[in-house]
Amino acid sequence: MNAPAQLETFRAVIQETLGLALATEQDDRLARALTVRAARTSCKPAAYIARIHRGWPEEIGSLAAEITVGETFFLRGLDQLEALTTVIVPACAQRGDRRLRILSAGCATGEEPYSIAIQLREHVPDLASWDVSIRAIDASATALESAKRATYRPWALRETPDRLRARWFARQSERVWTLHPDIRSMVQFEQRNLAAADPFLFQRQAFDVVLCRNVLMYFAPAVAASILDRIADSLAPGGVLFVGHAENLRGLCDRFEVRTFGSAFGYVAAGSAPRVTERATEAAPASPTSGTNDAWIHNIARSTDRISELAMRAVTAPNAPRATAASDAVRPQRPEQLDDNERSAREHHAAALERADAGDLESAAELERSAVWLVPDFAIAHLHLGRLLRRLDRTDEARAELDRARALLAHEDPARVALFGGGFTRGGLGAICRAELAACGDDS
Ligand SMILES: C[S@@+](CC[C@H](N)C(=O)[O-])C[C@H]1O[C@@H](n2cnc3c(N)ncnc32)[C@H](O)[C@@H]1O
Repeated sequence: MNAPAQLETFRAVIQETLGLALATEQDDRLARALTVRAARTSCKPAAYIARIHRGWPEEIGSLAAEITVGETFFLRGLDQLEALTTVIVPACAQRGDRRLRILSAGCATGEEPYSIAIQLREHVPDLASWDVSIRAIDASATALESAKRATYRPWALRETPDRLRARWFARQSERVWTLHPDIRSMVQFEQRNLAAADPFLFQRQAFDVVLCRNVLMYFAPAVAASILDRIADSLAPGGVLFVGHAENLRGLCDRFEVRTFGSAFGYVAAGSAPRVTERATEAAPASPTSGTNDAWIHNIARSTDRISELAMRAVTAPNAPRATAASDAVRPQRPEQLDDNERSAREHHAAALERADAGDLESAAELERSAVWLVPDFAIAHLHLGRLLRRLDRTDEARAELDRARALLAHEDPARVALFGGGFTRGGLGAICRAELAACGDDS
């Protein structure tokens, strides 16, 4: 089999086994993973692919570690963690039900489930009288080993206030913090593959709260849909699913409806009675449209609409702005004509622009990282990410992104230039890129 055909087979096998949709732009990552894992397991690449396809449970975790994105940090999505203790726990207590079964699905290196444990320890004074279980699963063996070690770099604690650092972490050295054993003991880690039917994990009504944040976006839509189906089956009546701030279930699963929980939004089974009592909801807006707390709920929807609107404007305007050179003649596709990764990357990029506008550079950079993961040749997203990282004083990372943008800009999709180029031509964007690189101390 020639190399491109082999890569195609590998891509299909990864989608079948791990559910991950890797676009052709991610061929470098795919090829590297194949080379590394085949060498480590002393297989020829073709034999490696065949063994994975047949089912190779001991290896799948290492392969996942090679190809998945594990970006995470403590107290990420704090509004959702707060919702747990300000809305969901009081509602359970009011019903006389002091049991809380939580699943962190796609827990990466443990920051998410440990943050849940910290949040509960901090804000539920009578936690000792509760029956709490926090299960945390991930496909990546390396991530799980790291989670169990529970030692973290300052970067993982970038959103953790000093007070919580001092209370729940011991500083081992300048750059290493170890998590308190009381928090570690609250979480059980398991290596599990979300893409596989897993009746032992997803038992009926097994969980009160499921966090599946910043995970679904990496899956092929059909796989994400079946994972959501399993989650829906496993939620207890009134149970809540939280997804990442940049994610939503539109077009994936109609078994959920969105509700507000304090200032966060989450999903409950469609048509289910509200678990949260009148009293508990008093603190929260009564409906997703009442008040400012719903900002996130419609954020992505708005982004999508904005993209549609811009695309339609570019198609229909008689005097569409001559932002691009004549050689860049633009025929933007309608959103429904875009492939899933491209559409999702554009949504992430649009959401990143909104977050940056609002001054939230960290979230903007995270969203932009997802955009370039989904579509690695998205030059404008690399450029924006580079600019954000420079503003965040992460100069080395900024330089790498800007270098990538500079290399990719010459071939940037004209539709993306028209939609996201801020009125600049490719040449203008190139000049911005060079100026940003110069500001990073790069004179070339
Ligand atoms: C970006 S991290 C999200 C971490 C955390 N949930 C958060 O929001 O900060 C995505 C995680 O999903 C995991 N993952 C990807 N495919 C998976 C699969 N098929 N089964 C289980 N976990 C998977 C990756 O290994 C990675 O750790």
